[in-house]
Amino acid sequence: MARETVKAAEQAVQQLPRHVAIIMDGNGRWAKRRNLPRPWGHREGVKAVRCIVEACRQRGIEVLTLFAFSSENWRRPKTEVSLLMDLFVRTIKKEVDDLHRNGVRMRFIGDRSAFAPKMRALMASAEQQTADNRQLTLVIAVNYGGRWDIADAARRLAAQAVAGAIGVEDINADTLGRALCIADLHEPDLFIRTGGEQRISNYLLWQLAYTELYFTDLLWPDFDAAALDEALRSFAGRQRRFGQTGDQVEQSRRA
Ligand code: FPP
Repeated sequence: MARETVKAAEQAVQQLPRHVAIIMDGNGRWAKRRNLPRPWGHREGVKAVRCIVEACRQRGIEVLTLFAFSSENWRRPKTEVSLLMDLFVRTIKKEVDDLHRNGVRMRFIGDRSAFAPKMRALMASAEQQTADNRQLTLVIAVNYGGRWDIADAARRLAAQAVAGAIGVEDINADTLGRALCIADLHEPDLFIRTGGEQRISNYLLWQLAYTELYFTDLLWPDFDAAALDEALRSFAGRQRRFGQTGDQVEQSRRA
């Protein structure tokens, strides 16, 4: 292989995101375009989830975070909410053993207090079963909202301050960041939203501060491994500066 090609390949590997966070949008429109009821779109969406989990694992991505149900999604028609919950439960039950065999660790983030005890037990048991796996960490956000995440962390820190365990001056960006969901995981490097909308929709608000954003018109059920590779190529071509100048970044890359 020519030296330049080797260099480019090495760079591409270096530029693989460690953590990809996705908003899976467009299930409803996928179904509508085919004159099918919306639930069909969600069921196809689950197939895309399966495909992207496997593709991320094969490519060596460490963490994949999926927005399955936002704290605002309760505003949908009751029948759709209960269908989504049902699909969610059935999917976890059906997939957990396979995910475990493939070395996938499962984590759930979001306010679990809204869920029935049975559903909470299912999430806890999937987490427990897969806790030691390290091939890929699959984080599923359910009843999650970025504002809830930040407010919940702030409340817990405030409670510690009231109890005298920490001082008010100890509440800062560092301690707040460490009190958030998934603070133990690498922050998202790449955010993908399917379905053509270009917004964050209360997803991982704090954690996305320096994340590269990628939007595609593809509807979620059509998002496959090739579409993921396209997003990864876009990511690999970006220079992440984290507040530094482009020259500084180039210098430290060459050092
Ligand atoms: C957005 O499409 C999609 C959702 C709100 C649900 C996504 C959930 C799944 C694919 C199931 C995931 C299950 C697990 C276990 C991870 P939309 O309905 O807003 O589409 P629209 O914008 O076209 O109406």
